[in-house]
Amino acid sequence: MLDSLQHTPKHKMRTYMTYSKLSLDLSKYQLENSSEIIIGKDVLAESANILAPWMDSDTHLHIVSDTTVSKLYLNRLKAVLYRNFSNISQTILPCGEHTKSPETLQMLWSDFAQNELTRNSCVISFGGGVVSDTAGFAASTYLRGIRYVTMPTTLLSMVDASVGGKTAINLASGKNQAGTFWQPSFVIADTSLLQTLSAQDIEEGFAEIIKCAVMADKTLFSQLLDHAPLGSNLAIHEKNLDWLTNIVITCVNIKKTLVEQDPFDMHGVRIRLNLGHTFGHAIEAASNYTLPHGHSVAIGLCMMGRISQKKGWCSKETADAIENCVRAYNLPTESPYQSEELLAYLKRDKKRTDHALNIIVPKSIGTSSVMSVSFETLSDLIKLA
Ligand code: GLY
Repeated sequence: MLDSLQHTPKHKMRTYMTYSKLSLDLSKYQLENSSEIIIGKDVLAESANILAPWMDSDTHLHIVSDTTVSKLYLNRLKAVLYRNFSNISQTILPCGEHTKSPETLQMLWSDFAQNELTRNSCVISFGGGVVSDTAGFAASTYLRGIRYVTMPTTLLSMVDASVGGKTAINLASGKNQAGTFWQPSFVIADTSLLQTLSAQDIEEGFAEIIKCAVMADKTLFSQLLDHAPLGSNLAIHEKNLDWLTNIVITCVNIKKTLVEQDPFDMHGVRIRLNLGHTFGHAIEAASNYTLPHGHSVAIGLCMMGRISQKKGWCSKETADAIENCVRAYNLPTESPYQSEELLAYLKRDKKRTDHALNIIVPKSIGTSSVMSVSFETLSDLIKLA
């Protein structure tokens, strides 16, 4: 699946003292591409230096961004990259979940061809999860796969979408129904960029962060409750940005640990990252993507908490704590859709097997488990939510 030539460094990698660097190491699976994940305030300014040891200065870099991010930051990124690279082109996508479509994929392939990208080129996704999912899919399939770097600009994509190599588009039948696994060679997450996010974008990121805490990290959950009164102003003050940078590092570490054990989501380990997503994806699709991903995940998380409590799999304190934390970050807790409507989407969930669906159940704050349930059981469970 992976081209070893793509990932051979030309010379030893520099160290970046002021940023946190994590390595997502897949070498034990004989996968040559591991991701270097660099997280920190103002790390965008270092992006050319980070990439330079891995690519010749005439490597063609093709940036894929969206209309919002490109207006704010594209000129800054290109000015930095031009210090070490001479051949840079770009595609700017419309914002919004509807961009994750077969038509956009086709358009990206055409743009890659028109810009004469080769197997030596590198696609850089510069935006949120919509951009990285779609650009990653295009990069993984064009010429059977070219190098790929993610530069996430939203909180949600920093803690989840940009890390771990899942790419996807949506089909009429549901969310993320077509996609590939294609690890980015680098994830460069500049947390200073979070300062221009809307309150809704920050809230969406917190849905994934709360998910991480409920799933695997009790200490993170306590930290979230302690900071909750600051609400969505979190990114604006320097001290909060430091806190948020550490939260991003914590969540990426949790994700890295699970992805390293189960990169292709086949062994019941990585799937835990989908806590809240089973119902969340169904709600998002039922709303025709008018309800944002993070908000749908928050509702899905609360639904799983309520089900878990009513089945005796977790305590009332745990279910209440999940809901209180979700509310504290201004996120919704109740589904606007009836269970019958959601069941139709659940039947198309990627986590289904022939007759069952894997659900992720919170057991207590910081622990969760995977259960395989039949569709009959699922239709009973969803009525408890
Ligand atoms: N977003 C879930 C995963 O990467 O597996």
